[in-house]
Amino acid sequence: MTERVPSGVPGFDSLLDGGIPAGNVVLLAGRAGTGKSIFCAQYLSHGSKLGEKTLYVSLVEDKGRFIRNMKRFGLDLDDMEAKGLMKILNIPIPPAGQQNTVVEQIAKAFDEFKPSRAVLDPFSALTISISSNKSDSQAFVHSLLSNLSSHEYCTTILVCEVGAGADQIGTGIEEYMADGIVVFYYLMRGKAKIKAVEIRKMRGTKHSNQAILLEITEEGIVIDPDIELTS
Ligand SMILES: Nc1ncnc2c1ncn2[C@@H]1O[C@H](COP(=O)(O)OP(=O)(O)OP(=O)(O)O)[C@@H](O)[C@H]1O
Ligand SMILES: [Mg+2]
Repeated sequence: MTERVPSGVPGFDSLLDGGIPAGNVVLLAGRAGTGKSIFCAQYLSHGSKLGEKTLYVSLVEDKGRFIRNMKRFGLDLDDMEAKGLMKILNIPIPPAGQQNTVVEQIAKAFDEFKPSRAVLDPFSALTISISSNKSDSQAFVHSLLSNLSSHEYCTTILVCEVGAGADQIGTGIEEYMADGIVVFYYLMRGKAKIKAVEIRKMRGTKHSNQAILLEITEEGIVIDPDIELTS
């Protein structure tokens, strides 16, 4: 039996037959505002509550703001950090061509802190504008993902911002290299916009292929596996 990592997000694990297979590197893709960062905060905070060391690398959102925003969902990331169970790093996106400095900082954090759960949010901020040459960008993504996958003890979520109407995640090779792909997206129901989650791929487990209702509540992301949606 593959070891499972419980997400801490109500309803999510039953889409994956019990949780993300341990050690997987998973892309969490979606448009702005779909709840990706909230999901990641719940995922890490659940791990820390279980006594695991967790790492959040914020590449865009300011650390203090992120912590304050997540407090509104009852997530006390400050407290986890004070207990040494979580590390929150704010690494601003470097100018084009200097991404390697960020990769070194991330690698150092993995080596020193040894997290069993990690999140890079948004990972896609690192991979845009590396180079106008597509094969250079893909080579960078390849080496970064190989490095992250080598930490077999860590189950990692890479957040990918996806623009409206885009059908490709990242530079193209992320989808093949990642062990899993989870997509959050908007659906229109009459005039109302609702959110859905879909597991596109997850190595090491059987999983749902349906669009499932996702809601952001006062307690964070809640998924109702019994509510399947049609597009
Ligand atoms: N108390 C709340 N109740 C319901 N929904 C909320 C609440 N607070 C925030 N939201 C929703 O959560 C969304 C933000 O979630 P989150 O920051 O996780 O999104 P994201 O996918 O990470 O976005 P981005 O791509 O901009 O980083 C807001 O757009 C809003 O719709
Ligand atoms: Mg976000």
